[in-house]
Amino acid sequence: MASRCSWGLLLAAVLLGFLQPSSAFEVRNSSVACILANFSVQFIVEYNTVSVKQNSTFTLPSDAKVLPEYSTCGKGKETSQVLVIGFGSENSLKMTFVKNTSFYTISNLIFQYNLSDTTFFPNATAAGVREVAKDTDIRAALNTVYTCHNKNTINMGNVTVLLSNVTLEAYLANNNFSVNETICSEDRGPTPVAPTTASHTTTSMAPTMPPKTPDVGHYNVTGPNGTCLLASMGLQLNVTYITKNQTKQWEALNLPANTSFDGHCDISIVTLNLTSGSTSLIFNFAQNSSTEKYFLQRMTVSTDLPAEATNKSMTAYNDSLSALKATVGKSYKCLAEESIWVSSEASVNIFSVQVQAFKMSGDTFGAVEECQLDENNMLIPIIVGAALAGLVLIVLVAYLIGRKRSHAGYQTI
Ligand SMILES: *[C@@H]1O[C@H](CO)[C@@H](O)[C@H](O)[C@H]1NC(C)=O
Ligand SMILES: *[C@@H]1O[C@H](CO)[C@@H](O)[C@H](O)[C@H]1NC(C)=O
Ligand SMILES: *[C@@H]1O[C@H](CO)[C@@H](O)[C@H](O)[C@H]1NC(C)=O
Ligand SMILES: *[C@@H]1O[C@H](CO)[C@@H](O)[C@H](O)[C@H]1NC(C)=O
Ligand SMILES: *[C@@H]1O[C@H](CO)[C@@H](O)[C@H](O)[C@H]1NC(C)=O
Ligand SMILES: *[C@@H]1O[C@H](CO)[C@@H](O)[C@H](O)[C@H]1NC(C)=O
Ligand SMILES: *[C@@H]1O[C@H](CO)[C@@H](O)[C@H](O)[C@H]1NC(C)=O
Ligand SMILES: *[C@@H]1O[C@H](CO)[C@@H](O)[C@H](O)[C@H]1NC(C)=O
Ligand SMILES: *[C@@H]1O[C@H](CO)[C@@H](O)[C@H](O)[C@H]1NC(C)=O
Ligand SMILES: *[C@@H]1O[C@H](CO)[C@@H](O)[C@H](O)[C@H]1NC(C)=O
Ligand SMILES: *[C@@H]1O[C@H](CO)[C@@H](O)[C@H](O)[C@H]1NC(C)=O
Repeated sequence: MASRCSWGLLLAAVLLGFLQPSSAFEVRNSSVACILANFSVQFIVEYNTVSVKQNSTFTLPSDAKVLPEYSTCGKGKETSQVLVIGFGSENSLKMTFVKNTSFYTISNLIFQYNLSDTTFFPNATAAGVREVAKDTDIRAALNTVYTCHNKNTINMGNVTVLLSNVTLEAYLANNNFSVNETICSEDRGPTPVAPTTASHTTTSMAPTMPPKTPDVGHYNVTGPNGTCLLASMGLQLNVTYITKNQTKQWEALNLPANTSFDGHCDISIVTLNLTSGSTSLIFNFAQNSSTEKYFLQRMTVSTDLPAEATNKSMTAYNDSLSALKATVGKSYKCLAEESIWVSSEASVNIFSVQVQAFKMSGDTFGAVEECQLDENNMLIPIIVGAALAGLVLIVLVAYLIGRKRSHAGYQTI
């Protein structure tokens, strides 16, 4: 009800001229709206003048409006819906929508233009109306609004139609744009995002396919006093970014096993630098002399972001970490996946890690200190084993007692 009111207010505003009427179009069947659309269109039309071939480039003018006599919400068996926008002297853009059980599509686009309209086609040698048509693959899930901010170029012979800033929906369910949206592939960029629909709200996270686990890489850092760091681990950088249409998205990048590395051995800090393409991870280990522990204190990550992100790249660090902690002289080991939270934009997932920093006895790992997660995982089989042993014991005791009782029985007779 509220949304119907706000659309009504919007329409009133359009009629009163507060908004550019050319950018919003509506097809309705008496009281029910079936198509809503808001987009920019640029036309490039090649035509002949006496002397030369000429290109006329123009956008939808402000007098463009829905032609109700040609537009339709579909009637009876005819389920296709049609939006026809007319402008100038008999120029028009016609979109025909069809649907199946899950999608609606702009199956066909027709542009009619009147070469006698001197506003758009000055000095044209030919006169009268021409028509170009093209099938399109513009489609969206039913009950979602189709959005596409980037340009979609549709070549139709002598005419090129460029659609941009598109917000449209056909087969409307309740007189207004749906909450969920289908974002066009042009806006989504080259990185694969599993589902095509995302929520319309700005704070939602569009889910991505869980990526495969990274390969385990082997790293070492050597200083004047020998090796000060040994590590083997699989690394995955998880970055969260804002897309151009204001949704939040995350992407997980696996570092390959052949990631190049270097580092430093200082008395108080051991540094490991990893670089793979535009992605870099810097680990700084510190040690606490009072507790005889070393740990990952600071982590710095930077990477390029996908094309769909508003920013080209990102950098984040956190110097108050206390991860991968173990006793000096021993190695930290964790088979379970660990996640290191760097900032709200980045986290690092670590798989099958074994690491040792500072004091090393030669070029090999020292005694292992297992992480809490692994110890917890080992606790389960121990508990199950203990429970089984207990059960066997109870059965045995019961059997022995039973045997004794029956013996006792014979003796009394
Ligand atoms: C149509 O879109 C334009 C820009 O994308 C926006 O400024 C305008 O307010 C929209 N109009 C309506 C009626 O939604
Ligand atoms: C084309 O435009 C001319 C000039 O505005 C107009 O007189 C004519 O009726 C239009 N042609 C058609 C077929 O509508
Ligand atoms: C149309 O032709 C007239 C006369 O030939 C010329 O002056 C004018 O510049 C032409 N207009 C365009 C847009 O080509
Ligand atoms: C699309 O909308 C954005 C923001 O309103 C604007 O900056 C941009 O120029 C528009 N693009 C076109 C082609 O109209
Ligand atoms: C939006 O999509 C989600 C997930 O597909 C669905 O659960 C929800 O009902 C949809 N919302 C509306 C208003 O259709
Ligand atoms: C990546 O980070 C986001 C936001 O913190 C989270 O929702 C998502 O589950 C993470 N994905 C992976 C694979 O760690
Ligand atoms: C790492 O391996 C990939 C393929 O596995 C290869 O394309 C790339 O060049 C290698 N990088 C380095 C630095 O060796
Ligand atoms: C190397 O060992 C020497 C002698 O034990 C020590 O003074 C120096 O600080 C050590 N250097 C590093 C980087 O650990
Ligand atoms: C060392 O550990 C102790 C005990 O956990 C803590 O109070 C102290 O702040 C730590 N020192 C450093 C330099 O981290
Ligand atoms: C740094 O990491 C700590 C521990 O995980 C966390 O509490 C803190 O919020 C992080 N700092 C920032 C700026 O995210
Ligand atoms: C350190 O890494 C280099 C390069 O991968 C390798 O040749 C060397 O054997 C490694 N050293 C140790 C102690 O693992």
